[in-house]
Amino acid sequence: MTIEKPFRTIIEPFRIHSVEPLRLTTRAERASALEAAGYNLFELAAEDVPIDLLTDSGTGAMSVEQWAAIQRGNEAYAGAPSFGRFRAAVTDLFPYTHVLPTHQGRAAERILFTATGGAGLIVPNNTHFDTTRANIESTGAKAVDLPIAEGLQPAARRPFKGNMDVAALERLLSEQAAAVPLVMLTVTNNSGGGQPVSMANIRAVGQVCGRFGKPLFLDACRIAENAWFIKTREAGYEDVPVAHIIRQMAALADGMTMSAKKDPLANIGGWLALNDDALAERCRNLQILTEGFPTYGGLAGRDLEAIAEGLREAVDHDYLRYRVRSVEYLGEALEKIGVPVVVPFGGHAVFIDARAMLPHIDPLAYPGQALACALYLEGGVRSCEIGTVMFGLHPDGTERPAAMDLVRLAIPRRTYTQSHMDYVIEVVERVACLASDLPGMRIISQPRRLRHFTARFEPTSQARPPAARARRGPGAAG
Ligand SMILES: Cc1ncc(COP(=O)(O)O)c(C=O)c1O
Repeated sequence: MTIEKPFRTIIEPFRIHSVEPLRLTTRAERASALEAAGYNLFELAAEDVPIDLLTDSGTGAMSVEQWAAIQRGNEAYAGAPSFGRFRAAVTDLFPYTHVLPTHQGRAAERILFTATGGAGLIVPNNTHFDTTRANIESTGAKAVDLPIAEGLQPAARRPFKGNMDVAALERLLSEQAAAVPLVMLTVTNNSGGGQPVSMANIRAVGQVCGRFGKPLFLDACRIAENAWFIKTREAGYEDVPVAHIIRQMAALADGMTMSAKKDPLANIGGWLALNDDALAERCRNLQILTEGFPTYGGLAGRDLEAIAEGLREAVDHDYLRYRVRSVEYLGEALEKIGVPVVVPFGGHAVFIDARAMLPHIDPLAYPGQALACALYLEGGVRSCEIGTVMFGLHPDGTERPAAMDLVRLAIPRRTYTQSHMDYVIEVVERVACLASDLPGMRIISQPRRLRHFTARFEPTSQARPPAARARRGPGAAG
């Protein structure tokens, strides 16, 4: 018998079918674009961004099968067969009784928390994503993060840093059970560095929820990547197909919110799924109010078809192996040149520890924003601050440093090649050489909620006196 020996290079398991040209920009063009955008990368025109790692949300490339499925889209207002195919694909992996399509993940969150939230209530999560937090807080409820301690230590190398602190959940529920309408678990934990949650942790959280009679909901945007990490890191799952792992994860919870713009490989869409009939009835009424009739819920029939096909492709092992490896490739290269990164690498992004890379910038002068602006200015790489700009402003108007100041390089699915990643590595290396000269940022205008999307900034005058500004090589970046 011949044993097939794997090759070292894990290739992109697709070839390019149509191309979208990139516009290469000069540093001077980027400097003026940045200034016009108020140093907020969300305000840049996409044509001014050669390598866009702002988000992996809705930015992936669809497959030939998804484009073909789009042609099957049936646009009937009610009862379209496209909804039937969507529902079948969702319930194949997530066997919940009720599936409510929404235009994206945050609409599912808004519906769920309008139905269950309210003043004085508390919703725990391993770490709330920003839209989840905002949707909870807009009902007057409090969003509480309960990550394990290692989840807040960027350099701690643990396999499941996305886990929830089960003892802390138990304490919270023992003291304030009446105030908790439901518990959430975000898989993978995006705001906590894209780190996975173990099956053991989901089971333990589910058991605590069960003892206190609280439903558990998964924020399942990146559940396929999370399941791949369970398969490759958690004992007993090596030989279990990812689709089965996902079904097991779903079975430990009572419902889910989903953004189809992530692992389901679509450019738009989402859903809320749950078992509780009475809660589903309340949610459906809210869905009809702002999303649409329950069989399309804010989406065209063709979008439902693209999601159904995307879900099938998202659990393919060759795809997931390439996906996780390509993120790791970028992370390993940055680590090698001395850039402080969150380890181990998550499923969808590499997170740079901006607080460690720019120790001369106070957290309230936003080191993450400063680094993200420098990456754009120097090399046209758009990234996303996940730190004090995103999480530092509280509903009472006070501002405190976030637990970490990270810059996320999110990798769109099936979109960039290895040479694009090699270029990104060079850009980060150049910025690391300039690190000690980078100024902090100050906010000149901001809204009260979700300020990172629209706040305007300006660089502070140089953060260090010139004498202290020794040039550091990238090896000293951490
Ligand atoms: C963990 C998590 N939950 C929820 C959402 C919201 O999804 P959407 O952007 O589709 O509204 C996101 C989006 O990035 C996310 O990462």
